[in-house]
Amino acid sequence: MTIIRTVKKMHQSVRKIAGEGKTIGLVPTMGFLHEGHLALIRRAKRLADVVIVSIFVNPTQFAPHEDFNRYPRDEKGDIKKIKEVGGDIVFIPAKAEIYPDHFQTFVAVEKLTQTLEGAMRPTHFRGVTTIVAKLFNITRPDVAIFGMKDYQQAMVLKQMTFDLGYPIKFIIAPTVREKDGLAMSSRNKYFTAAQRKEALCLYYALKKAKAMVTKEKIRDCRKIEKEMKAIIKKVCPSAAIDYIAFTDFTTLTPLKKVASETVCSLAVRVHKVRLIDNMKLL
Ligand code: PAJ
Repeated sequence: MTIIRTVKKMHQSVRKIAGEGKTIGLVPTMGFLHEGHLALIRRAKRLADVVIVSIFVNPTQFAPHEDFNRYPRDEKGDIKKIKEVGGDIVFIPAKAEIYPDHFQTFVAVEKLTQTLEGAMRPTHFRGVTTIVAKLFNITRPDVAIFGMKDYQQAMVLKQMTFDLGYPIKFIIAPTVREKDGLAMSSRNKYFTAAQRKEALCLYYALKKAKAMVTKEKIRDCRKIEKEMKAIIKKVCPSAAIDYIAFTDFTTLTPLKKVASETVCSLAVRVHKVRLIDNMKLL
């Protein structure tokens, strides 16, 4: 496994790989890797000859008041994990490699970023699309893998890939959860054991929503939302709900009634940590 830290070396390396007729799979990450990330790397291995994993805590996707500075980092541990699951190249650029002085060009997806996370975090997605466009340009992948955990991010990036005409197969992999259902996230590290139990409120609420739809045949989103709110308050009394949304899987259009391809997503602040999760209801 090779570790590359400069754009120049990465360019040389991907040119060589393509010259040998091999395909490239890219898994972009911000590091502090968990099983969710590793599942994406394993998936990439099945789909491409050479797997590149990028680790870059991208400053442009964090607002000034967000957790950029305290975002967990563990480069050594990450490298070890990537090696164990068979990644071929780890790309770890310094900030100046990605955002040189006088950097001023951004990529923005317009409509899909207006709702949900985009409404709560107005500058977030332009940071995400800019870094991923740059990573696509630097690593020239044939296939790129993203997680359903960040559902809106996946849909926004898929749109960007299509709109900018990148010849990249875009894969969205399922959310990996802990045994008790908590969606794996680098931010779970912020919790004490007691707080972590309260963080399960998102999963319990989603499970309830799913049961209401599939078992009780309820379709009214407001009714489902009310039950979800009650569960969240019960499991985590201090929780602050940013949103609970019911949208069409592809267009992210808000829905009043659950129909086929409806996703329920939510963002909840649990002990000052902002968590997101989602589940397809039908
Ligand atoms: P990060 O949060 O590190 O996530 C990297 C990738 O792992 C994303 O595609 C994310 O959706 C996926 N992922 C995270 N938790 C997961 C889980 N429990 N199950 C399955 N996949 C999971 O998302 C980012 O970084 C950044 O925004 C990035 C795309 C790298 C751009 O900076």
